[in-house]
Amino acid sequence: MKVLITAGPTREKLDAVRFLTNRSTGKMGYALAEAARDAGHTVTLVSGPVTLPFPAGIELIFVESAAEMAEAVKERAAQMELIIMCAAVADYRPKQIHLGKLKKQPGNFLLELERTEDILSTLGASKVAGQILVGFAAETDDLLTNAAQKLKAKNLDWICANDVSRSDIGFGSDENAVTLLGQDSRRYGIGPDTKRAVAEAILEIVTDSGR
Ligand code: PMT
Repeated sequence: MKVLITAGPTREKLDAVRFLTNRSTGKMGYALAEAARDAGHTVTLVSGPVTLPFPAGIELIFVESAAEMAEAVKERAAQMELIIMCAAVADYRPKQIHLGKLKKQPGNFLLELERTEDILSTLGASKVAGQILVGFAAETDDLLTNAAQKLKAKNLDWICANDVSRSDIGFGSDENAVTLLGQDSRRYGIGPDTKRAVAEAILEIVTDSGR
């Protein structure tokens, strides 16, 4: 299959030296890309800024901001049979980017943020027939309820509910555990296990069980 996977955080510039980001390291997304490659798929990985080694045998596209990730994904989405959005994409970005370094002023500083594009919602709204669309839901509260709501709202086939309130799984850790929820109410508990093993299990279910 032609597979597109996103990984890592995005960086939303504030000025010449500062940006907003999050704790994603890219480990989960890279594990998915490598597992998909090893299963014989043709893989494109759209990656935010990470410090992981370049995986061999995978088309790798580096982006920085949510807008750049949106452009890279949307440009390629129509040709893909499976898309897995594992990246932790910023929901907001500074409304104004300052060209130089912002000077410190007396008193507080109020930062205005604006919404970024929800890439997965865009993909869900224009889904190509037969395409399998998989999202992740990073949640600290009401894991399954929130994940199920995202599955429906974004018109996905599957969503991986990921509890990110724990330090042993989720952001940055070498292991993960997810509940994979299907549009047809199927539900699979995966892990805790290495991110590679979790990736293999996710791929097996979403590619074998169809949409
Ligand atoms: O990178 P690691 O350190 O290994 O950590 C892995 C992980 C915790 C980042 C990963 O397993 C994970 O949960 N990724 C999803 C993070 C996230 O942004 O979740 P969300 O619930 O905020 O977003 C829901 C879905 O919409 C995600 O598939 C996300 O990629 C997508 N999204 C979100 C915002 C946006 N503007 N566009 C999007 O497409």
